[in-house]
Amino acid sequence: MTGLPQSSATIAAGLASGRYPAGGLAFPHRDLTGIGQLARHEILFLLDEAEQWVALNRQPQKGADLLSGLTIINAFFENSTRTLLSFEIAGKRLGADVVNMHAATSSVKKGETLIDTAMTLNAMRADAIVIRHASSGAVRLIAEKVDCPVLNAGDGQHEHPTQALLDALTIRHALGLPPQSDLNGVRVTICGDLLHSRVARSNMLALTALGADVNVCAPPALMPAGIEAMGVTPFTDFNAALKGAQVVMMLRLQQERMEGQFIPSPREYRHLYGLTLDRLARAEPDALIMHPGPMNRGIEIDSQVADHASRSLITRQVESGVAIRMACLDVLTRRARGVPGWADLPEIKAGSAP
Ligand code: NCD
Repeated sequence: MTGLPQSSATIAAGLASGRYPAGGLAFPHRDLTGIGQLARHEILFLLDEAEQWVALNRQPQKGADLLSGLTIINAFFENSTRTLLSFEIAGKRLGADVVNMHAATSSVKKGETLIDTAMTLNAMRADAIVIRHASSGAVRLIAEKVDCPVLNAGDGQHEHPTQALLDALTIRHALGLPPQSDLNGVRVTICGDLLHSRVARSNMLALTALGADVNVCAPPALMPAGIEAMGVTPFTDFNAALKGAQVVMMLRLQQERMEGQFIPSPREYRHLYGLTLDRLARAEPDALIMHPGPMNRGIEIDSQVADHASRSLITRQVESGVAIRMACLDVLTRRARGVPGWADLPEIKAGSAP
């Protein structure tokens, strides 16, 4: 612990209270590859850091210059609308130069290997790289090859950590929980393609770490074996899974990741697993509705539910996303920016493991 800017008493007090000891023991990860790599207090730290950006983003003048002079590359090897835009806006609001690389127009289409692409991005001396890739583990692989922080914007069926963070922040705000609180005892039901969804996986990790009671629901073919080990309660009957839910999070069927027939038909799927107004009545009276997007209206969620004026959090999720990404970009570049208390910390290994 020598050389750290905080006294051990301060750190011990922080750890004992479950709060993040700011400064010393600063965020001990170079990269954000998954929620699985984070301890509960580190998740709370990122949520708390995002609060200031939620406030700033509601001002007419949204600019900050924390990352001025830094270059962020968004390397997206898979399609995206909101996540790419959200990271781009986040970087720009913090004053960074943000460059987007789309795989469809890059040399990836010419057969360049992932490692070669990573080495090229590295040689351009990016200060942070944000990656989305269709293969689980690809982000980690790149993180091991480059010299700057790497943020996972979704890797295959593995993780989508900033989505889970923005969802937790959205729930905290919507339930009127104060900054710094966890989600202890909040009852959340997640329903959809649990087998292929990185959003589901990151959310299960984050929500359980924050103390939420999580029900998960999917047709048997889309239910991962042994999912109970993640600390969630599995259901194949959606009506039963909704009982007591304060928050209902719906997920898209990830058709692009399915090989073969996983559901009988979209119509049948909607009948059993679609969130209709009628079915929503089985949850708590004011249950809140979430969806990471993109939505397939009329399949996993009906428009009356998705557009519910007082209960749908879907656009608030998008709003939280910018703030969370600003917090992650800020925190992960603090060491390189020489922020007091962060710059003199011991070297952190690349691709620190989830
Ligand atoms: C999700 C994704 O790409 O993992 N979308 C998102 O990032 N908002 C969910 C999905 O594609 O269904």
